[in-house]
Parts: sequence; C-alpha cells; structure tokens
Amino acid sequence: MHNPQLNANGELTHLLSIEGLPREVIVHILDTASSFLKVSAREVKKVPLLRGKSVFNLFFENSTRTRTTFEIAAKRLSADVINLDVTRSSTAKGETLLDTVDNLVAMHADMFVVRHAASGAPHLIADHLRRLQRSDVHVVNAGDGRHAHPTQGLLDMYTIRHYKRDFSQLVVAIVGDILHSRVARSDIHALTTLGVAEVRAVGPQTLLPACVESMGVRVFNDLRLGLRDCDVVIMLRLQNERMSGTLLPSAREYFRCYGLTPAMLELAKPEAIVMHPGPMNRGVEIDSDVADGPQAVILPQVTYGIAVRMAVMSIIAGN
Ligand code: CP
Repeated sequence: MHNPQLNANGELTHLLSIEGLPREVIVHILDTASSFLKVSAREVKKVPLLRGKSVFNLFFENSTRTRTTFEIAAKRLSADVINLDVTRSSTAKGETLLDTVDNLVAMHADMFVVRHAASGAPHLIADHLRRLQRSDVHVVNAGDGRHAHPTQGLLDMYTIRHYKRDFSQLVVAIVGDILHSRVARSDIHALTTLGVAEVRAVGPQTLLPACVESMGVRVFNDLRLGLRDCDVVIMLRLQNERMSGTLLPSAREYFRCYGLTPAMLELAKPEAIVMHPGPMNRGVEIDSDVADGPQAVILPQVTYGIAVRMAVMSIIAGN
C-alpha cells in the first residue's frame, strides 16, 4: 500500500505517523539523532543544514515540550522559525486550516510542524500539498488528536535504545490511559516494528481501545501482573480533555489501582527504566518518589527529543 510519507524512491518527505514506516527508516532517524546529540553538546550548537529554510510551527493545541524542542531543533539546524500564534491568527476569524496553509506557502514556507486536536489534520495538509504538487514543502506531525505523535514515539525509541541497547529481548509495559493516547499508538507501532520481545498494554478496561491486541500487544488489567519483570515502564497521563463521560471512579481510586509507586516499581526488573512523555500528573498516574527517582529517565527523554527532531527535519528536508 502507498505510504503518503514516502516518495517514489522510498525517502521520507513528511512524518505523519510511525505506522507503516519501514524499520530501516526508523533506525536511520535514531542513528542520525545520535550524531545531532553531539552537536547539542558543543559550545556552538548549530549546523547549517536548514540554512535559508523557513519552518512554521502551527500549534493548535497546548504544548510545552514538543513546541519548544521543535523550535530549538530547527534553530540548531540554522532554519528560520516562525511560531504562528493561533489564538491571534485569522483561524480565530473562521479561516480554514487549508486557507491558512495556502497563505503560509505563499510566504515561502518550507516545512510545517503541526499539532492539532483533530486526528488527521497533518495528513490533510500533506494531501493538500500533494494536490498542489508542492513536494518541496514538508509536514511533520507534532501530535494529532488520539491518532499519532510520531516524534514522541521516536524519541522514546531513542531513549530505550540509549539505556537498553538491544530491542529484541525487551519487555515494555505501557501503562494508563491508552484509549486516548496518541503516544501509546506511536510507541506500539515503533516497538513492534523494532522487534521487542513483548509489548504490554496495562490499564483498566475502560481506558484500553477495543481490539488493542490486534496491534500486537498483551493486555493486562492488573498493574502488578503488567509490571512483573519488565525492562521499560512507559507511564501515561489521564487525558481528561479527551474523555467523554466518566470512565473512572476518581483520580484517587485510579492512583490506588494504577499509580506507579516505589512498591509497584519493585515488581519490574531492578534495572528497569521509567518513562513518561509529560506532562505528568504527580499523585495520579505516578508517585513523585518514582518520577524523581533513580530509575526515571523522563528528563533525558526531553533532551533526546531535540536531537531526534533535528534528525527528522534534516532527513525530510533532504539533507
Ligand atoms: N509529550 C508532549 O507532547 O508534551 P507537550 O504536550 O508538552 O508537547
């Protein structure tokens, strides 16, 4: 089946989703990110790969980590970065997403980094650019609805590879609100493509997608069983803003059953790492003693996110 992110030569021209990305493309991004991590450690943290290019950040949803690290990554590649202030833009007056895009293309945009509450918004823009025959303008999905957050998935893979080296022997538990999580979907696609031994989806039945097993994961409704002997624990936030209706008795009850406390973490392997895409809700899905503890790699995830986003942008822009 045709993958809209790849051109006829199999090269990445947009990053819309990890689903369907060949293993070698994922590995190439992770390897490229390793070289950019060294750039970020230098006194002069810049390379000229995107000099003269204009990167437009279009964030129609709130963000701390993704928006900031995309901006830092683009600047370290020497691009000009334009952050559209959506609340002050003409979308607030009723302009459509594609009319906004057309106007920014008329300003010679080279790349759009798009976060949107609607699943499929970055695909819509990429499809529009294809119809306009503008293969020189690229789209990176920075999180769309419940669908995908591919650069988070990639930085999670970078983090796991950094600490664990070989994917093939790993048991990875993804814990919490998987139903509403675009991060969980991107992580599951990446982990299964990279060939981990086992991916576990751990949470209450009300917060697991129907047929999640068809994505190649083992389901656990009991946190104790789900954590047992795993190498990597990825905790997820309760996405209250995407829930319709009450799916849980209370946040306190949720923490009692699914919160990651030091005692719960002892069920995982002693050298297991704890990840979280952020923002964290301390005392809801994770105890502060774990979030700030020696097994947490939550802040290194953010640092690696810059290098991974530099890799994605430089690869899709053809460098
Ligand atoms: N992980 C993540 O997407 O965080 P932000 O919402 O702060 O960008």
